[in-house]
Amino acid sequence: MKFLIDDANVAKIREICEYYPVDGVTTNPSILAKSGRNPYEVLKEIRGIIGAEADLHVQVISSEAGAMVEEGHKILAELGGGTFIKIPATQEGLKAMKILSGEGHRVTATAIYMPMQAYLAGMAGADYAAPYVNRIDNLGANGIETAKVIHDIFKKNGLKTEVLAASFKNSQQVLELAKYGIGAATIAAEVIEGLIRNASVAAAIEGFVSDFEALCGEGKTMLDC
Ligand code: G3P
Repeated sequence: MKFLIDDANVAKIREICEYYPVDGVTTNPSILAKSGRNPYEVLKEIRGIIGAEADLHVQVISSEAGAMVEEGHKILAELGGGTFIKIPATQEGLKAMKILSGEGHRVTATAIYMPMQAYLAGMAGADYAAPYVNRIDNLGANGIETAKVIHDIFKKNGLKTEVLAASFKNSQQVLELAKYGIGAATIAAEVIEGLIRNASVAAAIEGFVSDFEALCGEGKTMLDC
């Protein structure tokens, strides 16, 4: 499962990339709005941090297919040909996906709440389909189950499309999908920071250090004991 950051906070992205095995960054219009800056300025900075080879997913705003395609071309011109164009999986979106994927561009179908949207996006040539796990849970449905069903639909129909699960609120949701082997998960910075935070781990490490210092002296390590 690829591991992506769902954020546009450049300071956070820089910090997370230093510590975690990051495959890329996804954004959406709401995430970009939080930055309060020009979208392309922020996205270029993000591209600079993650490098030319990492995945960058950028969403179109228009709701009509022709305008979506035009926006997609502009995003590619500004941010590089390998950028994934995120397109909502609506009827117009499917048309735009067919055009952009037909031109050889990388496409991510987004705003997915139902497996049928993902199936049709896959058939329209999308590389990824992004179900919103936590938002689906909040509707009284099962976000994890929806992501798994979509993964199975892609595999059973021989589609190259992978699940890019989004909208996580906790570690357990991420773990469930890693166990299932979905294609990718994109996770907000605050959720990433909680993925391996655990008081028992911290206590175990503290115990090791104090035992070693009792043996060799305060501040000693394997370097100078
Ligand atoms: O791009 C979709 C995803 O970022 C939604 O996440 O946390 O707003 O539900 P969230």
